[in-house]
Formats: sequence, structure tokens, C-alpha cells
Amino acid sequence: MKAAFYTLGCKVNQTETEALSGIFRGGGYEIVPFEERADVYVINTCTVTNMGDRKSRQIIRRAIKINPEAIIVVMGCYAQIAADEVSKIPGVDIVIGTQDRGRVLELVEEVREAHRPLNVVRDSWQGVSFEELPLIEQESRVRATLKIEEGCNQYCTYCIIPYARGPIRSRPPENALSEAAHLIEAGYKELVLTGIHTGAYGADLGLDLNYLVQRMAVLPGLRRLRLSSIEPVEITDELIQTIVANPTICRHLHIPLQSGCDRVLARMHRPYTTQKFAAVVERLREALPEIAITTDIIVGFPGESETDHQASLEFARSMQFAGIHVFKYSPRAGTPAAGYPDQVRPEVKEHRSKDLIDLARLSWRRYADNFIGQTVEVLVEQATKPDEWEGHTDNYLRVRFRAAKDLRGCLVTVKLDKALKEYLQGIYMEMPRGGG
Ligand code: 5AD
Repeated sequence: MKAAFYTLGCKVNQTETEALSGIFRGGGYEIVPFEERADVYVINTCTVTNMGDRKSRQIIRRAIKINPEAIIVVMGCYAQIAADEVSKIPGVDIVIGTQDRGRVLELVEEVREAHRPLNVVRDSWQGVSFEELPLIEQESRVRATLKIEEGCNQYCTYCIIPYARGPIRSRPPENALSEAAHLIEAGYKELVLTGIHTGAYGADLGLDLNYLVQRMAVLPGLRRLRLSSIEPVEITDELIQTIVANPTICRHLHIPLQSGCDRVLARMHRPYTTQKFAAVVERLREALPEIAITTDIIVGFPGESETDHQASLEFARSMQFAGIHVFKYSPRAGTPAAGYPDQVRPEVKEHRSKDLIDLARLSWRRYADNFIGQTVEVLVEQATKPDEWEGHTDNYLRVRFRAAKDLRGCLVTVKLDKALKEYLQGIYMEMPRGGG
């Protein structure tokens, strides 16, 4: 039997897909590329924007077309929010949502025997706990994503995710730490902590993210620990001190700004002002001068005027982000902002998005230029062409360099030479002691 997977959306989805592919492998399935003919297709969907919905439907149809006889499993946020719509797509056999993912093999067997589709989506806010899925193991063994938290209670007015994922559930620290130890043992050099609202880790257990990070950062053999998205109000002095004190923790934080205009932030229900955001960034840079700060910004939120947009752009410029992910506001049915009267026209969103994408490029370049001439440590992820390798520094600079040996998965020393469009070109120096 063969199974194939497709993941849309975020890092959490990626880890969940990997865990499921482990379940199938454990059940005797061979995992094949999505474009190949398989007996089961699993599509892990996204609904954060309208684009997520559309792409999810497209991929579902593609799987059905590749093999109309296959069992089609649709899971994840879009499946959770639009379970009926998804189960009505002819050819879809199993709709899972954001719980009970671990039961997937059992459900496939059930469909095979009963020859009728199953929809097991249930209320994401009723009687839920953190769903432990089996250990992930990717072949690359370079960087692994570790899910430590599920759900979000924040209810930003634009966001559908709390409805799709349910409330905050933190993974018990012992489980997170033991999975981390396993991954290190298996040879992974970098662990990336992830969740739906990662910075809220521990709120339901009487703990906090700093507690877990402090314990994880000192696991024997760990080379790099990366925190992913974290809210400005969650960056405490203690957490900053933990990053300073532990060189294994990457000097990189993704801090979603969403808007650089206070009027818009308030209407989004974001719990900070631009002034507070700037103060957090300043504290971080004082403690960690070379830290990379990346962000998400939404353009065209209802009521965002041209003046608001210019303010947002100006504030984003002043923050000197190392990277900006730009999102065009997408009304999500059931969220408050979708009902706001002053929706922004698509062509205006398009225009504002271009402004921010231009800024993102300039801002990255400005950050990257600081490192020209420096010697840095790169974790090698892949070959980009024969004898050319690519990887990231701890502060998330993408680096390419030439070397005539297989360096995948190695931590190597590279002297940065020049910044090109999206990456830095460097000169391979050597492999530091214990770097292999
Ligand atoms: N429209 C556009 N972007 C959105 N995001 C969340 N909800 C929406 C929406 N309705 C963006 C936010 C978040 C990222 C993961 O997706 O910027 O940080």
C-alpha cells in the first residue's frame, strides 16, 4: 500500500503531516511523492485566508484526479471549519479536522470495509486535550519542528484560527523534552519550537515558555534551538536573559506586528501599541545586538485609510525587520472584522501589499549588509547545484557557498562575501570541531 501527503499553510501543519506519515509508515505503507499514484492521499489543509481554502480545494481535486480509486483524507483547519463543504466534494472519503488525527489508520480501514465516507470533525472547543502524535522523523535530519502547544484564546478580530484550533493546550514539559532528546539522539542539529500560539505555552499548566526553553536549551547534544512566532507582550526580561545565557538559542524571533498603526491595532484587538512593540524590540537589541527580528503584517484591514497605511509602512521601516511576511486582509466568515462595514477594495490591498513587499526586500538587505565580511556558522540544509550548498545562520541569514564535498547536516564556518537578492554568498572556511 502507498500513501502520499500534501501540506498547506503553517509549520504546525508540517509537523502534523510528518507525524501522520510516520503513522502510515508504521502501518506498513510506503510513502510516495504526492504526484504519484497512491492508495491513500492525506491533505492537511489551511484556512487562515481565503487563499488557504482555495488552494486546499485545488489540492483535494488534484489528488482525486491522480487516482479516483484512492481513499482521500482531508484534515486540518479548513476541514475543521468547512467540514460539510469538504465532505460534499465527490471523492472525499474522510474528513478529520484538528483532533483525532492519531486515529487516521483506523478510519482508513473503516472506510475500506464499509465503503462509505466518514466525517469525524467535532467541536474544537469541547473536551479537548493536547493530542500526542508519534515522534516525527524526517529523512533530512537537519532541522526538526517540535510542536509544544495547540490552540489560541486571543481572538484577534480578523482571525479564524481560534475557531479552527480551539483553546490553548500545552504539551506537558516532560513529553516535549523527551521528544526533543529523541530528535537530538536521531541526529537533528536544530529544533524549532512551534505551536498555534507558542508564546502562550504553559498558561494552562501554570508554567511559561521561558521554563520550557530554559530546560530544553541545555539538553546534551543540542546545537540549535529556534523559537518561532511569539507575541510582543510575551517577550519577558526573563526570556531575553535565557536567550543571552544560552548560545544554543538562535538569535531570531518572529514577532507578528500585524499593523504599524495604533488605530488599526486597536480594531484588530491586538494587546499592544506601536510604542510598546518598539520598546520590546529595543530591549531585545540592547541584549542581543545581532538578533534577527522578522514579522507578519496585514494590509487592507477594514477601515485602514491611506494615512493608516503610510503610518504602518513608516513604523515597519523604523523597526528594521530582517524579514516581513505580508498578508492581504481576507474576510473570514464568523470573525468580527468580516462584518465591519468599511472593507478595503482588492486593488488597494494589492497596492499596499506591494509597498510592504518592497520594504521587506530593502529591510532584509539592510540587515544582511551588516554581516558582510563576518565569519558565521551555517547549518547546511541542501545542495542548490553540484558543489553549491545552502543553509541558515542562527540569526536566519540564508547563505550559499561552494564546497566539493557532502556537507548536508553539518555546521560549517563561512565567510560572508556579498548579499544577493535573497541570500548571502559566502566562502567556505572549514568544518569547526565537532561540527559534523
Ligand atoms: N487575513 C489576512 N491575513 C491573516 N492572518 C491571520 N488572519 C488573517 C486574515 N483574515 C495572518 C496574520 C498571521 C498570519 C499567520 O496570518 O498575519 O500572523
